This record gives sequence, C-alpha cells and structure tokens, in this order.
Amino acid sequence: MVSQFGLLLRRFRQEARLTLEELSAASGVSARAISDMERGASRGPQRRTVQALVEALELDDGQRTALTGAAKAGRPRPTGPIPGSCELPRAVGDFTGRAAQLRLLRRLAGQAGTPAATVATISGTGGIGKSALAVHAAGHLADLFPDGRYFLDLRGMDAAPLHPAMALSRLLKALGVPEKGIPGDEEERAGHYRALMRKRRCLIVLDNVAHESQVRPLLPPDGAAMIIVTSRRTLAGLEGVRQIPLAPLSGEETVDLLRAIVGEERTGPDPAGLTRLARLSGNLPLAVRIVGNRLQSRPGWTPSQLAGRLDDEERRLEALAAGDLAVAAAFALSYQQLSATARLVFRRLALAAAPDFGVPLSAVLGELEPEEAEDALEELVELGLLQSPYVARYRFHDLVTTSETETVARVIRQLAELPER
Ligand SMILES: Nc1ncnc2c1ncn2[C@@H]1O[C@H](COP(=O)(O)OP(=O)(O)OP(=O)(O)O)[C@@H](O)[C@H]1O
Ligand SMILES: [Mg+2]
Repeated sequence: MVSQFGLLLRRFRQEARLTLEELSAASGVSARAISDMERGASRGPQRRTVQALVEALELDDGQRTALTGAAKAGRPRPTGPIPGSCELPRAVGDFTGRAAQLRLLRRLAGQAGTPAATVATISGTGGIGKSALAVHAAGHLADLFPDGRYFLDLRGMDAAPLHPAMALSRLLKALGVPEKGIPGDEEERAGHYRALMRKRRCLIVLDNVAHESQVRPLLPPDGAAMIIVTSRRTLAGLEGVRQIPLAPLSGEETVDLLRAIVGEERTGPDPAGLTRLARLSGNLPLAVRIVGNRLQSRPGWTPSQLAGRLDDEERRLEALAAGDLAVAAAFALSYQQLSATARLVFRRLALAAAPDFGVPLSAVLGELEPEEAEDALEELVELGLLQSPYVARYRFHDLVTTSETETVARVIRQLAELPER
C-alpha cells in the first residue's frame, strides 16, 4: 500500500516539476531513497530526511505541516518493556562484534549450576558497551534459562545507588513474590532470594554496579542461576567470579557498525572516510553510535566530510581538556546540529539532572506542548544524545551526568550553560 507520505511527496515533487534525480541533487537524499518513499517502501522517514526534502521542494507552511505530519504518522511507535518490572530493556538491533565474549558467556551459562551459580562481571569505561553486551547476551542465551531473564539497574553512577535491600525487594517481586510476602528485614529478604534461586534456572543482569558490597547480597552461593554484572570498576574483591574486561571495538568492527547504522548505499563509496571516522571515534561504541546517527541524519554528507568536522571539533576540545575527547567531540558535534527546540530541552534536562524522565517533565522544563516535547526527545534519541531503553522513558547516558569522566561532563555542562539564543 502506498503511504500518505509517499503520495504527498510525489505530488509535491511533480508540482515542483522536479525529477527524482533533480530532487536528489537538491536535497542530498539519494534518488533510490526518494523513490522508495514515494512507493511506500519506507513509510516514516527520519525527521532530518523530511527536513531536507521540505527545503529542497521549497514547500509553504501548509504543505510542510502536511508532509512532516504524514512522516510522523508513518514512523513506527516504539514498543517494548515497561520500566520498573525487571524486564530486559530493548537490545541493540545492530549489535556488532564481541564474538569472543559471547562465546565465553555461553560456555559459562552452560556450566551454571555445576556445582554452583555462575557470576560473570563485565567491566570497562563508560560507553564501552557493557550494558549493550549484557542485554544482547541475555537475548542470545534465552534457550538456556527457561525460568526467565531479569534486568536490574543498580544505578552505581548515581549520587544514591540502589540499596541492596531495595534491589532484593525488586527482584523478589519480579520473581513472583507478592508484596506482602517480601520480608522487611534485609537478611530475611536475602534468604528468601537465595531459596528461590536454588530452584530456578534464570539469568539476572545487574547493570551499573557501584561496588562489591552493593552486589554481594544479590549473588546466590548455589543454584543453577547465572548472574551477569556490569560495572565501570573491575570489582576485584568478588570471589569466584569470571572477569570479562571490555576493550574498544576493533577498527574493522567499528567500520562494520558504522555501515550498519548508516547503510551500505552511503558508506560504500567512501571507505577511507569510514576508517577515519572509526579512528576519530576512538572505536568507543558510544562515540561510534553518536557519530553514526549524526551521519545517518544528514543525507547529504559523506563520511569524509563528517570526519573533517569531527577532527576540527576534537582539536577545539583538546584546548579544553585531555581525555575522553572522542565522546565529547561526538556529543558536541551532534548538539550543534539540533533544532532550537531540541537544544533547549537538552540543556534544561541536563541542568535538572533527573536520572530519567518522560514527556511531561520535558514539556514542563522546555515550556512546550507535550507533542513538541516528544518530538524534541525523539530527535535527541535519533542523534544518540539521549537513550530510550524503555517505552516513553528517556535518560542521559551516564557519561553526561557523572563527574567520573570529567571531559564529557564538562563539555555537556558548557553546552548546557550557553545562553539560550
Ligand atoms: N557491540 C555493540 N554493537 C553496537 N552498538 C553498541 C555495541 N556496544 C555498545 N553499543 C552502543 O554504544 C552505546 C554505549 O553502550 P553501553 O550503554 O552499553 O555502554 P556502557 O559500557 O554500558 O556505558 P556505562 O558505563 O556508561 O553504562 C550504546 O548506544 C550502544 O547502543
Ligand atoms: Mg551501561
């Protein structure tokens, strides 16, 4: 079926007396992509693509509203798990690399319960891909854990990390214990949890652990469960635990990931630009994600052009501070590309420093209508500046809100403190 968006686009193009190729040249969107949209093969193109088309077609206000509205209606609504339920968040669709770690986790999962529960700790710096690996592994290992897979964010980077007693209560609830069956005393809760774990073959991801004492009560000594812990620290004080330190992706994997994000059509002709982008992003997945999303949202740009910009940005930031430049530069570059409304929302949210938020808070902070706030949030997600692990919930990457990685936090703070136009 041809979409409303496709019909409108074709009509406006014909009214402007442009061929596919001419519109492509004027907008920077490939002729094939335009043709796909007109035929309804892609129904809800990205905001930036629509923007480029609107400008190239020189649409008036009414036409612009009609086209952007049709594009929005065609974009799939996000679906996924509900926050607070210990359900796994959405996995990364274009997960790349980490084959050795996934093999190791599968081997460990196969051994769980012989004779004891298995605990693996994934550690590494912010943005290296610990959570992405843990969630992907949980999906990958579903067949081995018939009693379910659970996920809990221990908020180790927050000012007030989740207390173990609270974590136990959340897990017991997720494991099916009714509220009134959850003991008030922490020791008793832990006992109840260990008893349940002895009987069940389940996988639990404990994300963002602050330190050993936060997680120790959550590690069952026996049973057939597997626990995957992620932490910025190595948690060397935990005994009998398999350590999985994460390094950046290889240069080749980074290029693969960029290709997956942006698509072969645009990356194929410029392999040298991709290699440069990979190097500039430090092969750090978070920076790669932001750079890739930035490229994807700019249909007219080649990888080499973006690499030139990123290079300049890194040099500019080098004057400010050393370390974590790749991420800071990626953030700064994407920030500059935002619409005025999205910038405003980003800045106000950064200053408010809420751990996570939905449309209502963003609307209040940005003094916007809910629909405008939602558009701004989605734009921020599109560019990788916010994450949306659960439906209608948004959060900053931890790198933005903690002081541990000073450079990024500082750069974002500086961006946030710029005068509002
Ligand atoms: N193997 C991968 N393939 C594709 N994308 C990845 C991969 N690893 C990480 N990413 C992307 O990189 C970003 C950062 O990853 P992630 O959130 O897992 O980092 P982290 O190590 O958990 O950071 P933090 O310590 O701040 O929690 C995410 O946007 C994620 O989608
Ligand atoms: Mg994480």
